[in-house]
Amino acid sequence: MGDDDFVASVKECELGEGHMKAVRVKGRAVLLVRQGGEVFGLSNCCPHIGCSFERGILRGYTVMCPCHGWKFDVRNGQYEENKAICLVSYRCKILNGKIHVEIKNDV
Ligand code: FES
Repeated sequence: MGDDDFVASVKECELGEGHMKAVRVKGRAVLLVRQGGEVFGLSNCCPHIGCSFERGILRGYTVMCPCHGWKFDVRNGQYEENKAICLVSYRCKILNGKIHVEIKNDV
C-alpha cells in the first residue's frame, strides 16, 4: 500500500463539516463524510437493497439510510444492529486542497 493507491476526488471545500457527498472514484460509488474534522469514505451502496446514502441523515458518526433506516458508523462502516454487516471503508486524506480516496485494486 502506498500513496499511489490514493485517488483525487472533489475539492476539500466541497465537503463541509457535518455533511456528506456522493462521488465516484475509479468507478466505485463512494460516500464522503466529514465529521469531527476528519473525512471518512464508505461504500455508497446500502447492503440491504442497495440505496445510496447521500440523502440519508447524518447524526454524529451515524448515517441513516434514507430507504429503510439502517444505521451505520461512518468511522468503520459497521451496521448498528449487526456488526457482521459492514460497508467497505476507504481511507481518505487531504492533499493539495483535494480529498483523496484510497482505492486498492483488490477491494
Ligand atoms: S436499502 Fe438501506 S435500509 Fe433498505
